[in-house]
Amino acid sequence: MPDKISITAFVNDAPVSASVEPRWTLADFLRGALRLTGTHLGCEHGVCGACTVLLDGAAVRSCLTLAVQINGRRVVTVEGLSPPRGLSVLQQCFRRHHALQCGFCTPGMLVTAHALLAETPCPAREQIVDAISGNLCRCTGYIPIVDAIEAAAAHPRSAGGSAS
Ligand code: FES
Ligand code: FES
Repeated sequence: MPDKISITAFVNDAPVSASVEPRWTLADFLRGALRLTGTHLGCEHGVCGACTVLLDGAAVRSCLTLAVQINGRRVVTVEGLSPPRGLSVLQQCFRRHHALQCGFCTPGMLVTAHALLAETPCPAREQIVDAISGNLCRCTGYIPIVDAIEAAAAHPRSAGGSAS
């Protein structure tokens, strides 16, 4: 077994110290070691977007990121997007617009949308479509998802879609 490497990071604003194997993906570390199972694994090779998390504010595929790469950095998973109580504006808009069915793609969609709205608070519909083009949904169809993100952007309490 290869030597483990010590890392420290902030995950959803909580300090984390761990010893990880060099081959571990960030997705496996989040799900297996930290039990943050909101991050879903679909294709496991960078195609579906279900595993998307924020790394220092940027949306990344956690199946293509190694756990050692988060050393000294900040990770936010879908669990970290929710306010202490209730749902974020973005999450409320997903519910209101029926932007999910099975929900498998939803964590990745929410994280990708959050990153978009943090960078571009008032995106054009085409920008929303472009932003989620790397996230695959097999059941809902994309129109309600785009509608939900558009509604979150227009919401008066929305700060990057994250306000409670
Ligand atoms: S599981 Fe990472 S992109 Fe599909
Ligand atoms: S809601 Fe089922 S894959 Fe998107």
